[in-house]
Amino acid sequence: MSSKIDRRRFLFWFAGVLASTIWSSKSWAGDRSLFLKDYAAKNDLLYGAATLHSFLRRDKDFARRFVEECAILVPENDFKWYKLRPTPQSFDFTKADWLVNFAEVHDLKLRGHTLVWYQALPDWFAAEVNATNAAEHLTNHINTLVGRYAGKIHSWDVVNEAIEPKDGRDDGLRITPWLKYLGEEYIELAFRTAAAADPQALLTYNDYDLAYDTPEHEARRTATLNLLERLKAKDVPVGALGMQAHLDAGKARFNAKKLQRFMQNVADLGLKILVTELDVVDRSLEAPSIFRDRAVANIYREYLEIVLTQPAVIAVITWGLSDRYTWLKKFRPRDDGAYVRPLPLDRDLQPKLAWKTLAHALRYF
Ligand code: XIL
Repeated sequence: MSSKIDRRRFLFWFAGVLASTIWSSKSWAGDRSLFLKDYAAKNDLLYGAATLHSFLRRDKDFARRFVEECAILVPENDFKWYKLRPTPQSFDFTKADWLVNFAEVHDLKLRGHTLVWYQALPDWFAAEVNATNAAEHLTNHINTLVGRYAGKIHSWDVVNEAIEPKDGRDDGLRITPWLKYLGEEYIELAFRTAAAADPQALLTYNDYDLAYDTPEHEARRTATLNLLERLKAKDVPVGALGMQAHLDAGKARFNAKKLQRFMQNVADLGLKILVTELDVVDRSLEAPSIFRDRAVANIYREYLEIVLTQPAVIAVITWGLSDRYTWLKKFRPRDDGAYVRPLPLDRDLQPKLAWKTLAHALRYF
């Protein structure tokens, strides 16, 4: 090993010690008795996170920290078709009801995620649903689920991930079973049905890969905006855009102007904007965890500095709260086997630099 690398390692180590000393010292500028939801509230924003019924139920420490930090809860999986629909005729609301009750008891707002998606469908779906009965299945699902919790849901992700320019259609729509059976009208049908079942909920179109300055993300921004424009032109009751924001500390950067212009165009349609699934992949970062944490925190800061300049943004939601429970453990594992660290709290439920960055951004941007 060259002495250059040795020197670099030493510098990494030394700076790491320094950073952790500063982090744990009394030099903290914010007020540690406040939580993320409090910083957000000072700026008229909602902060919250996605999680599972099972984590909240069996991990009391996590549940306590969740309620401390969050003002809004998103069922990460428990409201999806494959969790709710054991058979084409039936619903199993056990876990969903538990979450609705948990939110009520702890004064958390609740998002519904998600009514129409091409993923997370039950095993019976492919054999059962066809062009003749697709509309009936879609409206029955929405009427039953949205109707059951009417008045209790802050916002519904009515349609999730309907855009995929790579599928080659002029309109940029993803080719899904819903599109194949019902045409583009499936989107409109879903929004109109949801609005009738719960007139109070904010109805959201949710999608990913809208943030970066790459041709792929640009194509997705264009297709998303076009879709929202078509829906608004037809008076479809869409109320908000959800920007997922699964970011990657090792990827291309943002272009503030392009992202802000996109968001302004969305806002000009009269829509609110929610950051719905924020997390930062640290897979490609080689440094020790203290540096990974800094790189991840920087991405949180860079992204939020851009998006929070847009007044139409009403909420920032991370996809998980603590590194103890993150989908990225499985979906973006690290080659070195180290724990992934994409979220505001570490595995011990302690705030990381990302937490501090979030607190600051939520409060001041
Ligand atoms: C993910 C969950 O986090 C995982 O637990 C599950 O196995 C797969 O789905 N976009 C979405 C979310 O809209 O529903 C996905 O959630 C992550 C990507």
